[in-house]
Amino acid sequence: AGNGLLQGQRVLVTAGGTVERIDPVRYITNDSSGKMGYAIAEEAVRMGASVTLVTGPTALPAPEGVEIIPVQSALDMREAVMSRMNTSQLIIKAAAVADYRPAVVAEQKMKKKADSLTLELVKNPDILQEIGTLKKDQFVIGFAAETERLDEHALEKLKRKNCDLIVGNDVSQEGAGFSGDTNAVRIFDRNGLVEALPLQSKKDVARRLLELAAGRMKTT
Ligand code: PMT
Repeated sequence: AGNGLLQGQRVLVTAGGTVERIDPVRYITNDSSGKMGYAIAEEAVRMGASVTLVTGPTALPAPEGVEIIPVQSALDMREAVMSRMNTSQLIIKAAAVADYRPAVVAEQKMKKKADSLTLELVKNPDILQEIGTLKKDQFVIGFAAETERLDEHALEKLKRKNCDLIVGNDVSQEGAGFSGDTNAVRIFDRNGLVEALPLQSKKDVARRLLELAAGRMKTT
């Protein structure tokens, strides 16, 4: 049985990697399996929240009791998230959003021609940063996937994107980050390190993160 720490709260979670089309049969994506975000959605339901999960393509079954909004690209994810932001009290962005997308999406399968091919990419909007700019009473949690200088980079992202908490994820550490069932993270607020969670299941990371959020959210 879960606790009621998030009873009556609306929680918006993002998970998985975005898919950025090149042509009808090719795309750019990343290693996110969706497991971290899905674990957060599941644990939030157990804590009594009403949960919406905006998710890139994953191989995971839909968690019970969660409203699922499947998306493909960063632009799709942005639309799905921004249109739900005002009705959410807690927003958690575990998705691995592509920073760039192909400048043009070819309508037909691209033909093999020259010996080299240059693909032009353009920047995607930063969804978390937009939320940070527009947020009112929402409690916003970002993630930061890093391979070096975790603390410094995570804190810089927290400030730039105006999050309440950021989950620093050293994805070069064995057993942490993309794809597996475990993670190890360092959680920060504006003042610095709040808590370091050693290697444990993504489910346990999700639960602790939600407990921290529940304790810090304005209760209305
Ligand atoms: O899905 P799993 O296989 O379980 O793996 C989990 C995970 C490694 C994907 C997850 O723990 C994680 O670290 N997610 C964030 C990955 C990421 O894209 O980090 P980032 O440092 O590039 O982005 C920082 C934050 O900004 C993230 O909250 C991201 O969702 C958000 N962002 C980034 C770019 C963009 N255009 N829009 C965004 O909203």
